[in-house]
Amino acid sequence: METLEVGLSQRSYPIYIGERLLENDILLNREISARQVLIITNEVVAPLYLELLTKALGKRDQHSLILSDGEQHKTLSCFSSIIDKLIDHEFHRDSCVVALGGGVIGDIAGFAAACYQRGIDYVQIPTTLLAQVDSSVGGKTAINHAHLKNMVGAFHQPISVFTDISVLKTLIPRQYSAGIAEIIKYGLVLDESFLEWLEEHLEALLALDAQTLAFAIRRSCELKAAIVSEDERDLGQRALLNFGHTFGHALESLGQLDQWLHGEAVSIGMSIAARTSCALGFISDADCERVDSLLLRANLPVAFQDLDPDKLLEFMQLDKKAGTEGLKLILLKQIGEGIITAAPNDSILKSVIGAKTII
Ligand SMILES: NC(=O)c1ccc[n+]([C@@H]2O[C@H](COP(=O)([O-])OP(=O)(O)OC[C@H]3O[C@@H](n4cnc5c(N)ncnc54)[C@H](O)[C@@H]3O)[C@@H](O)[C@H]2O)c1
Repeated sequence: METLEVGLSQRSYPIYIGERLLENDILLNREISARQVLIITNEVVAPLYLELLTKALGKRDQHSLILSDGEQHKTLSCFSSIIDKLIDHEFHRDSCVVALGGGVIGDIAGFAAACYQRGIDYVQIPTTLLAQVDSSVGGKTAINHAHLKNMVGAFHQPISVFTDISVLKTLIPRQYSAGIAEIIKYGLVLDESFLEWLEEHLEALLALDAQTLAFAIRRSCELKAAIVSEDERDLGQRALLNFGHTFGHALESLGQLDQWLHGEAVSIGMSIAARTSCALGFISDADCERVDSLLLRANLPVAFQDLDPDKLLEFMQLDKKAGTEGLKLILLKQIGEGIITAAPNDSILKSVIGAKTII
């Protein structure tokens, strides 16, 4: 097992990465001391892992809430059902919420923990690759509003993260690849040598080789933790981690939240962002092909069908990163180095998006 620290002074917390952590009662009981625990999970994850976890957490005032599966349930009404449960069972301020699931469960359970009695502890046990390398680290919690992603949320750091790589064996390949998209993102904006390592080890990663997987997760979390430590509230450099996300969120919103998996939308978004970087003279055509080639090898999409560039631009303006100074984009200054910059004029964006549309 490996341990990493997200350094945030009093809110610092460990990330444990290893195999069969869900069964590691010694570790779990050492880290989760609360007497009252509410496990939030969903109908897919519960039959696979809930019993293992409840057994490991041992004798305490334990409850669980099994939510419906999917992004469409990252809603105010599911959030309310968590709060109802906490109230019904008279949870106190020193209790703990445990998020057992992918990014949807982590985001909604974290947001409930942030709000209940003005904030109680929560623990992340991410069960998708995407959640293990991204959403479980950094304390962003949220629910969606209508078709708008993550419109209501809070910053609330977990007290610890248990990343059990064994649970990835039950993930469907499409979801697994969606997680690889976020891993590739770290290489593209922060660390070219990690990108090179990914290019070399992609087949082993796709085959779930434990050592390769543990390194990819550890390096991703390390890169994210370093940025979060410097810019917890996303006012500066943390925006680099949104590479591909402004385009991606707009695609998700246009696709009624169910056409694309989050990581797939980000994959297309990264490909568009790379092309935009090229249109502005930062990177070369060959660099764009390098980006697309790695994404395609990871079984990720880099283009879409029948999409109106005007509509996509309209949704992009709604992105939370579009502040009063206008829309900012994360582009590539070079491979391995992202930059935060004002969006170029609409005609450049429309032509890049148009070129990505398969008719
Ligand atoms: N908070 C953040 O910083 C942050 C960062 C990135 C993404 N997100 C959010 O994360 C969400 C996407 O997360 P996700 O991709 O994990 O989606 P998800 O939570 O919907 O999980 C994907 C699917 O995998 C299933 N699943 C989960 N674990 C499994 C397992 N071990 N075996 C089999 N099936 C399993 C889930 O039930 C679901 O059907 C989005 O809502 C996105 O906005 C948040």
